[in-house]
Amino acid sequence: MLSQDENLWYKDAVIYQLHVRTFCDSNGDGVGDFRGLTSKLDYLQELGINAIWLLPFFPSPLRDDGYDIADYTSVHPAYGSLQDFKDFLAAAHSRRLRVITEMVVNHTSDQHPWFQEARSSRENPKRDWYVWSDTDSRYQGVRIIFIDTEMSNWAWDPVSKSYYWHRFFSHQPDLNYDNPAVREAIWEVMKFWLDIGVDGFRLDAVPYLIERDGTSCENLPETHEVIRDFRKRIDLAYAGKMLLAEANQRPADVRSYFGNGDEFHMAFHFPLMPRMFLAVKLEDRKPIIEILEQTPQIPDTCQWCIFLRNHDELTLETVTDIERDYMYDEYAVDKAMRINLGIRRRLAPMMENDRRRVELLTGLLLSMPGTPIIYYGDEIGMGDNVYLGDRNGVRTPMQWNGGWNAGFSSADPERLYSPLISNPVYGYQAINVDSQTRSAHSLLSWTKSVIQTRNAFRVFSRGSIEFLNPSNHRVLAYVRCLGEEKVLVVNNLSSSAQAVELNLQSYKKHIPIEMFGRNLFPRVGDLPYLLTLGPYQFYWFRLRRI
Ligand code: NOJ
Repeated sequence: MLSQDENLWYKDAVIYQLHVRTFCDSNGDGVGDFRGLTSKLDYLQELGINAIWLLPFFPSPLRDDGYDIADYTSVHPAYGSLQDFKDFLAAAHSRRLRVITEMVVNHTSDQHPWFQEARSSRENPKRDWYVWSDTDSRYQGVRIIFIDTEMSNWAWDPVSKSYYWHRFFSHQPDLNYDNPAVREAIWEVMKFWLDIGVDGFRLDAVPYLIERDGTSCENLPETHEVIRDFRKRIDLAYAGKMLLAEANQRPADVRSYFGNGDEFHMAFHFPLMPRMFLAVKLEDRKPIIEILEQTPQIPDTCQWCIFLRNHDELTLETVTDIERDYMYDEYAVDKAMRINLGIRRRLAPMMENDRRRVELLTGLLLSMPGTPIIYYGDEIGMGDNVYLGDRNGVRTPMQWNGGWNAGFSSADPERLYSPLISNPVYGYQAINVDSQTRSAHSLLSWTKSVIQTRNAFRVFSRGSIEFLNPSNHRVLAYVRCLGEEKVLVVNNLSSSAQAVELNLQSYKKHIPIEMFGRNLFPRVGDLPYLLTLGPYQFYWFRLRRI
């Protein structure tokens, strides 16, 4: 049995997010699979991450990259068998890597047998598993999420001649959580994967589980009730498992998904993410401080999940119209870079391949409060292809080496599930794991060393944060504290050299030790502490009492 503290493993995790199909193809059919992924676990272990979040790998028509599930309890044949998944899980666990999988709870594919039955006739016992209506005028005013593709949250079903409710693509009908049979069925699915041994779930699209007339149909009390019920069941039978909420909402609304420590263990901090990019563009710490000040406290057993990029567009749903326009102007001039209310680009190209800015943002990700998530490929600075449609441009094959298909697959290039990135700047000949492993100065080697440093100090994962307010607002400085462990982080968000005077009076008689070179800096005295930083430079200091 795990100790109380070990049950909080998610607080100390560094999570690596990947899709099995993008990672490594073991059988030469052009699609990544579990055997391929298993063969790359050494790489992930050496990177220093300690948990893997897998995007949906279940049978699916793949019209939403697997978020359209047609069978919750098997593996898509292109990715291998259930046994291959179990072998992968055992191999990951033997390396002390935890595995988090997807629970797409809000909707299924229209190809799922549940929906096929439900639409077959109005009398079918599964009819009430989905949300039907004779008109498309119910729940007026509920926002549409995929605004580039969907005109309405209702779709016409020609088979049963009625409308069904969907918050995402029209081929993804929403399940009806007012029906206890649906909750039981989804609980059976959770048990299936928990019994196999997965360590936690990311619950997709949680704000939308329940609909009520006259509301936004988001974050309703009844939805929280569903979550509490799942959580209670998990706590009773599966200690040490973790639930992560995907709730793309304002901080106060996301806060509600932690409940009193009886809903989610973790939730993504969606509003913080675009503000890190804003701060670097504006060369001003304000957007970051403001959003963290608006972020309510969360229960002790809970943790935020923070991230820079993921498999979706960089969502701009939680910023103001002015901020959104600014982000579009600065980061997505080409309209092809935009989708829905967001930007479909990877980290390195957004930073114009400027290593200093990529490092600065990664340094923020790894030093601010929360469990960081690294999106596959960002550790080597992979590029994107905004012309691939939907969000596929940030889902191209992992670039392992400069050889055939980037070492991803032995298939003919035409057969790959997606073209590789092949331009001279971000193409696999230029950007790949193999060449970056050989260089001690590559982005990959650098990323490994920062992760290693973070992992060596619990203050990063569990400590408090106190912002310093130097008059130079191009500098973002904070102290993380956990008992005697104290770390000072100073970031220059600007493209020019900066000097900053920090008020470190509470840390008098401390010596700052730079954490990567382990060099001693002048001790903190009575005067403001003066530091100079080059463009986009940052420091992590341990503060050691004399
Ligand atoms: C959120 C997922 O991250 C996204 O990729 C997907 O399209 C929607 N949920 C719908 O499932």
